[in-house]
This record gives sequence, structure tokens and C-alpha cells, in this order.
Amino acid sequence: MAESMKGLKRTHRCGELSAANVGETVTVMGWVQKARNKGGIIFVDLRDRSGLLQIIFEESECGSAYFQKAASLRSEFVAAVVGKVTRREGAVNENLATGEIEVRACEVRILSEAETPPFPIEADSKTKEELRLKYRYLDLRRPDLQRNLMLRSKIATTIRAFMAREGFLEIETPILNKSTPEGARDYLVPSRVHPGCFYALPQSPQIFKQLLMCSGYDRYFQIARCFRDEDLRADRQPEFTQVDLEMSFVDVDDVIDATERMVAEVCREAIGLEVSLPIRRMTWDEAMNRYGSDKPDTRFGMELKDVSEVVKGCGFGVFTGALEAGGSVRGINVKGQAEMPRKKIDALVEFAKGYGAKGLAYLCVMPDGTYKSSFAKFMTEEELKNLSAAMDGQPGDLLLFAADRLKIVWSVLGALRIELAKQLELIDNNRFDFLWVTEFPQFEWSDEEERFVAMHHPFTMPMEEDLPMLETDPGKVRAKAYDIVLNGVELGGGSVRIFQADIQERMFRALGFTNEKAHEQFGFLLDAFKYGVPPHAGLAIGLDRFVMLLVKAESIREVIAFPKVKDASCLMSECPGTVDAKQLEELSLATTVKAE
Ligand code: AMO
Ligand code: AMP
Repeated sequence: MAESMKGLKRTHRCGELSAANVGETVTVMGWVQKARNKGGIIFVDLRDRSGLLQIIFEESECGSAYFQKAASLRSEFVAAVVGKVTRREGAVNENLATGEIEVRACEVRILSEAETPPFPIEADSKTKEELRLKYRYLDLRRPDLQRNLMLRSKIATTIRAFMAREGFLEIETPILNKSTPEGARDYLVPSRVHPGCFYALPQSPQIFKQLLMCSGYDRYFQIARCFRDEDLRADRQPEFTQVDLEMSFVDVDDVIDATERMVAEVCREAIGLEVSLPIRRMTWDEAMNRYGSDKPDTRFGMELKDVSEVVKGCGFGVFTGALEAGGSVRGINVKGQAEMPRKKIDALVEFAKGYGAKGLAYLCVMPDGTYKSSFAKFMTEEELKNLSAAMDGQPGDLLLFAADRLKIVWSVLGALRIELAKQLELIDNNRFDFLWVTEFPQFEWSDEEERFVAMHHPFTMPMEEDLPMLETDPGKVRAKAYDIVLNGVELGGGSVRIFQADIQERMFRALGFTNEKAHEQFGFLLDAFKYGVPPHAGLAIGLDRFVMLLVKAESIREVIAFPKVKDASCLMSECPGTVDAKQLEELSLATTVKAE
């Protein structure tokens, strides 16, 4: 039976009390973590979002009616307790913020009873994530999720305060938009009033923030919800949050400067981490060549080495064949792993194949200086020695090589590097390595569409010195685009935008858009630019990823209150769901899926 809290007012959160409150009479309210009845004395741990508090009931102090009531408290009951703060009689609990004190109750009310939850409400839960997500409202009671979401709130507050101080205006942009392909798949919302027409949910506020620059708002930011219908992974959700910003009359350095100071402030406020500024910068070319990735984890070495020149004339057909086809041969040196069991190496070969490799060649420099290799029989001793030397191979090292198109070599060795670092525990978990990756290629060749597509988006400005190649050699054009990377995760990205009509037109042409198609999709932006547009640039940080990395969570689901799972469904609400025939009819929709 639920009692009223009438006449009681909470004076403190459980975790806010300390030795400083000894002697005070307080009223606390929360959930029963644990109740232990030791005969004449009942211990209750009361929990709220601030932490745990030990409450003591003794019949002589609270009277028999309240003592009986206390005896009926069970886990997850919601209770109000009035009592006096005293120093702990038993041993001080070092694990508890409130470990020096306890509250000796004089009154208790049961505000709500509770059924036994399907899993224990505790930190470091061993419960399967599926069950946790089905009962997310219970999962959210656990201290680790509460800490994550409280920190997330603090981060948002810090960002807002920083942006306001820097003269950014927080402006909301529409959620119901026009669909503009390029990028991920859109989520569509059917229109009732316009039969057969659809809104698209925003993949980002990109076009609107550029329009705001056109309208003179100068510095915009928004903590914006974005929607992308793409395959989910640990660091991807169908709806996620960006810290989105745009600035007028600026170039690359201005955006980087504002962003990194914001990021540094968040790190300081959220976890007491001092990020030394400026954050290191690396061009895309350098990142790819050294790490095989445009979001390199720089917390460990194992950098890629190009050995194409060394193996050019060797007898190993896999290497020379790849080179003759215009590819590359590169390797990584896995220090001290020459004696890795064959089975494990085979597993690495399979792993490499998952990234498009046809195989993975290995050369073990044995502790006695001899070689064990998948290609030793195709090379002379001299050639093996040269190859090993080029890889800085010392006795005991395992050298792995990929030979293929450069794009595949990068992707295979980049992924292997990360995989091996995980397996061999080479990564220092306490490090936060920030990095700017700059000068991204403007275009990326799409095998699927057989044309160049924008690597960032079609409004990204090429580097001025590369503009002449827009028509002649688009693959070589570098963009004024930059990503901020943290511990091998792409935290955010942005670019300087094209504000000159003639360059934008050349860009659309390079992307294979006709004038009509460009106007059909982005007409209002192109029109707006006819009426006076400032040079502008911006960026967006993935807030979920940022929080995830700061709290060292394995997945962004741990920092989102109500996340979705891999197939984009919500296990708690069971969305998406079917709708009534009547609703479909109103929307002039029919589905092609047969009812089961
Ligand atoms: P971009 O597409 O790079 O840029 O997105 C910016 C950042 O948003 C985060 N992010 C995601 N986080 C979780 N789940 C997802 N599915 C997801 N997709 C992206 C990443 C990413 O770095 N409008 C441009 C920004 C600009 O040019 O100003 C944009 O959206 O952390
Ligand atoms: P094969 O001649 O196909 O038996 O390959 C000999 C060795 O080269 C095996 O260890 C293969 O895994 C490896 N290998 C095959 N293709 C490649 C490639 N493209 N890059 C690197 N190694 C490869």
C-alpha cells in the first residue's frame, strides 16, 4: 500500500550527507537498495541518484509501528525516512561517500512497494544487455548509468556555457525536412496533407546552419538530434546528438581553435583532464600512410611501412603481382611476437580477409636470427634480410605484409594494427590522445555508383591550390575538411564551405550532378547564396561518442538513456511497430509487407 508524503519534505539527497551533518534531523527519500533485519535492529541502504545512505531502525528509537513498517521494506521499495544523522557506530565504510555516518530513523513511510526486479540494481552489472534494455527504466537506476547520464548533462551545460561566452547563438532547426540524398539513408515521415509526399528527418542541420550564416547570425551552435538510417555499430545509433556549430568570416584555424578549446574545457570540467593545446594535427595522407586509417589510434605505435621498393624485383609473385597492377606492399612489425602460434597467425589471416585482403604474408624473425615465413621459399636469404631490415625487424619480431590496391592495404593493416593492439594489450587505457586529421581528399571513388562522391559533403571547399585539378584530376583534390579524433574514434568533423557560386557549380559538375538536379535538391541554398553570403565554416562533434570516450564505456548505448539495438529497434517500447489500417489510409500509404 502506498502512503502519502504529505507533511514531509525531502531535505537532502542520500549521498549529500556527510560528517558535517552530524546532529541534524533530516528527511531523505529514495529506493531501498538492501534491507537487513538483525532482530532488534534493521539496517536499510537507501539509494537515490546521489548515492547510498545507511539507515538504522531500532524499536526503542522509532517505536514499534515504524519498526514493523521498516521490517517490511524490500529491495526497490520507495521510502521516506526522517531521522538523525550520527557518526557510524560500526566500522567506517571506505567504499561509500557517506561511509562515516548513518541516519537513525524516527519515522518511515512506504511511498511505493516494488516487485522483485528481473535483475539486481547494481554497478558493473553482469546481466545480459538485452534484458537490461528491455527493462531500461530499471537499468537506468544503476549507479554506472546514472553517473554517465549525470556527466552527460554536465557536459551539455559546460558546452552551452562555453559557447555563450564565445558569442555563439543557440538556434533550433527543423526536424521535418526535405529529403536530400548524398550521405546516409534518410528516415522518412509521410505527409497526410500532401498525399504521396514525405518529410525526411535531418541527418544533420548542415543546410540550415549555412543558411543562418547567410542570414547574418555569425556564430551558431546547437545540440542537435540527427537521424541516419545506417548499419549500427558500437559507436553508431540511428538517432544521435551532435554539438553542431558554424562560424562566419573564418577559415580552418578558427574552427579548429574554437573547437579544441571547447573540447578541452569539457574534459577539464567533466573528468578533470587537462588537454594540452593546440591539439596535434596530421594530414590525411600522413594518417593513412602511418596508420592505415583516417582516425588513427595514436596511443601505440606499430606503424605501417611501405616496402614496395624493397620487394620490387623479388621472386614472390604475390608481391610483384600487386605492384605490377599498380598496388602497394606494406607491412607492420608486431614486436616480440615471432613465436606466435601458427593457429593465431592463421586467425589473423582470416581477420585480414574480412577487410578485403586476398591473404596475409608473414615473416617471423626467430630469436636465433633465422626466418620462418609464408613466402621464404620465393625469396633469397638476401632478399629476406633486406625486407626484415626495412621493417626494422629484430630477432623475435613478427612481420605481417599485405599486397594489394593501396586502399585495401591501408584498410587491412589499419584494422590488424588495432586488433593486435587489443589482443596484446598494448593500449594504455588511461590515455586520451586527441588528434586533428586535416586535408581530407575532396572526393572518394564509388565503385557502386561509378562516379566520384563527396567524402564530406558537396559544400566543402577544396584547398585553393588544388582548385585547378577539379576538372582534370579530381582524385587528387584535397578539401578544407578536418576531423577531430580521440583514441582512434572519429569524434567530429567539419569543413570550410564553398560560398562562391562558380566553385559550387564546378563542384556539382565534378560530382556528376546536372544543374537541374542540383537545384532540385539544394535550390534554396543556392538561391540564398545569390543574396550575399559570408565565407563560413563549421563542424559537428558526436556528443554520444564524446561522452562514451570520457566515461570509457564500450558502447554509446551506455551514455544514451533510451538507445536502440543493432536492428534499430527499441527492446523496451518495441518500436518500430505496425500501425492501424486507418492511420495508413489517412496517409495515403499501403505497405507491400503481407501481414503474418
Ligand atoms: P559528420 O557526418 O562527420 O558531419 O558527423 C559529425 C559527427 O557526428 C557523429 N556521428 C554519429 N554518432 C553516433 N551515431 C551515428 N550514426 C553518427 N553519425 C555521425 C560522429 C561524427 O564525427 N554536417 C556535418 C558536420 C559539418 O560539416 O559541420 C556532419 O554531420 O562523431
Ligand atoms: P599463396 O601463394 O596464395 O599460397 O600465398 C602465399 C602467402 O601469401 C600466404 O601466406 C598468403 O596468405 C599470402 N598472400 C596471398 N595473397 C596476399 C596478398 N594480397 N597480400 C599479402 N599476402 C598475401
